[in-house]
Amino acid sequence: MPVQLTNQYHDLLAPIYGFLRCPTPAAWIQHASQPEQLPLVLIDHLHCELKAAQSAGLLLRRYALNDAMGQQVLDWLRPYEDRLYRKQHPVDQGAKNKQVPRIRLEDVLPWQERLVDRMVLLMKEELHHFDQVFEIIEQRGFELVPVTASRYAAGMLRHIRGKEQEGLVDKLIIGAIIEARSCERFAALAPNVDDDLARFYISLLRSEARHYQDYLALAEEVAGSPIAERVDFFLALEQDLIESVDSELRFHSGVPESAALASKQGLTA
Ligand SMILES: [Fe+2]
Ligand SMILES: [Fe+2]
Repeated sequence: MPVQLTNQYHDLLAPIYGFLRCPTPAAWIQHASQPEQLPLVLIDHLHCELKAAQSAGLLLRRYALNDAMGQQVLDWLRPYEDRLYRKQHPVDQGAKNKQVPRIRLEDVLPWQERLVDRMVLLMKEELHHFDQVFEIIEQRGFELVPVTASRYAAGMLRHIRGKEQEGLVDKLIIGAIIEARSCERFAALAPNVDDDLARFYISLLRSEARHYQDYLALAEEVAGSPIAERVDFFLALEQDLIESVDSELRFHSGVPESAALASKQGLTA
């Protein structure tokens, strides 16, 4: 019997389902949960975890930290980037922990302090997820083949406004949406994959749901005025990226081309 989500997770997921405009299409779940797609889904997931940490690092460096502290953030990320992009062996855990920046802030605004607080924690968690996904890939003997980025994040990021503060608000809103969708997809995949993987996906729900809330709260705080209109704008874009046909299967991809073709043939037959 597949691993089921207990009631506590339904409570955790309810705000996510209420926030996103659409659920993951059944055709994506069916396609992505086929055993032969597992290496691709896991390798793309691995990239997503690192990208989540890198994006948070970028926000820290651009909006809150001086150059020296920003360099600490880059040094923290480097062993993970080396492992994924340059296939270097992992440094031991002790060495990795030493890289976590010790950030002392002076003369910063309250939202900057909160940004640092939330993004450093988020980076820690995403990098831990990265290690966990890496371990699963290695345990299963999957080769770490190159995977190109999906159209998903880029499809929203290209609409970021140019002004400093507005741009930051947009980036935070997009961060919230990506985290919410990731959470929704882990929950959607869990009942359709093997038990070990299902338990792992379920274990990620709580932190991804919190990341979604943290991003959204930061967006509201930085904006200092209602952001509902801007959130709606990005949610509509996201819905289109999720519900339209996508030629490549990725963790955040749209409706698989094969499913779209099959339903078209079904309609015209
Ligand atoms: Fe994560
Ligand atoms: Fe996350």
